[in-house]
Amino acid sequence: MGRPGVVIALPPEEEAVVSHALAEAGFEAIHVRRPDELEAVLASRRDIAVGILDGETDFDESLDYYSLLHADGREIPALMVVSPRALERLTAGTDRTAVDDEYFSRPYSAESIRWRVEAMLIRAQTVDDGSGAVLQGGPIDTGDWAHRATVVAVFNPKGGVGKTTVALNLAASLQVRRGQHVLLLDADTVTGHVASSLGLEHVRTVADAWADEPEGGPREGLAQLAAEHPSGLRVAVLSASPLHTEVLEPVRVAAAVAAARRGLDFIVVDMHPDYGQLNRSLFERADRILVPVTPDVPALRAAVQFRDVAAELGLRERLAMVVNRANSGISVADMERTVGMPALALVRSAGLLFVRAANEGRTVVERFPRERVNDDFQALADRMMPQAQRAPASHPAARGLFGRTKEPVRA
Ligand SMILES: Nc1ncnc2c1ncn2[C@@H]1O[C@H](COP(=O)(O)OP(=O)(O)O)[C@@H](O)[C@H]1O
Ligand SMILES: [Mg+2]
Repeated sequence: MGRPGVVIALPPEEEAVVSHALAEAGFEAIHVRRPDELEAVLASRRDIAVGILDGETDFDESLDYYSLLHADGREIPALMVVSPRALERLTAGTDRTAVDDEYFSRPYSAESIRWRVEAMLIRAQTVDDGSGAVLQGGPIDTGDWAHRATVVAVFNPKGGVGKTTVALNLAASLQVRRGQHVLLLDADTVTGHVASSLGLEHVRTVADAWADEPEGGPREGLAQLAAEHPSGLRVAVLSASPLHTEVLEPVRVAAAVAAARRGLDFIVVDMHPDYGQLNRSLFERADRILVPVTPDVPALRAAVQFRDVAAELGLRERLAMVVNRANSGISVADMERTVGMPALALVRSAGLLFVRAANEGRTVVERFPRERVNDDFQALADRMMPQAQRAPASHPAARGLFGRTKEPVRA
């Protein structure tokens, strides 16, 4: 199977459910009942990634386990159950970067433990440059805010994590709920489907228009080319076909985005998952880059990769994560630390609502305004607004992270 082993020193009934969740994730779960059993396991194998310990039931024994995990040159991180009070003390405002150990308290779900183990593993494999996450939530307040749109790019190098869903619904939420003038740009020239899911068939694309120029066609910008959706959202599409995109010269596309900023409040850019020149030009023009991440290892890895690429490109401070398909049991703080970006919002799983709305060419905020997933997008939209225009703390939109009112934690 190739995944490492996890030793578990929990009471038997808890051990059984945790083992099961870990085994489902492909880990080898190894139950130890006494410190000498752990010693024997550690003597015989080197692929133990994490030790799950019970510091609440028998603190002294958990210390014995703990020292074994850190003896003989080993540095195996511990994931330890502690009392809720101890947890508060252990996690309150302390700088835990030096230690890879993690704590949790009862009651907990086996799924959340599995999740924590995944996060610890990814973190262990990620070279930490020590700078931590440098982001705070909130838009970049610039003096000319009122006159020029904020450009929000939505990107993760992995497909299927919700880039298009986030771009579309953020744009719709800003337009419909916050009365902003929004242009949604479908810059995914390979699999883009924004226009069709909004029921806008036969949109004249940027590639079409620019290809006509040598034949005497007019020079058209994004604003002129954009189609208007019944919600008020303007929608521009770079290309309807992955072929013949040569005309979409990256520098020109980026300049067209910049030119379209006048007269709009937001330009939301949905991107194809690649690091090509077009995307790099778009990154450069973006004020914020939202990174949707689903709580699974490939999506997290992709986000970590992008964080490193962004650092190299000098863009890291523009990045913020959107946790998509967020379910209970996920520790947002864990994801933030793992990925090294703050979470601006959580978006819950919305079943087939997106599909049903798209079948009618509408957005969820128009078609199913009372569904709670709209609160998530409203919270995200609110966090993109200039500070002065954000919802007061008492407003539901301010309680984005499923009721978490605080700003995202820093890594
Ligand atoms: N929170 C969610 N709840 C339900 N379905 C979702 C959610 N996020 C994404 N999806 C669905 O998952 C699929 C992939 O999402 P998409 O936004 O197209 O990803 P990407 O643009 O990153 O490839 C789509 O069918 C979309 O409707
Ligand atoms: Mg997409």
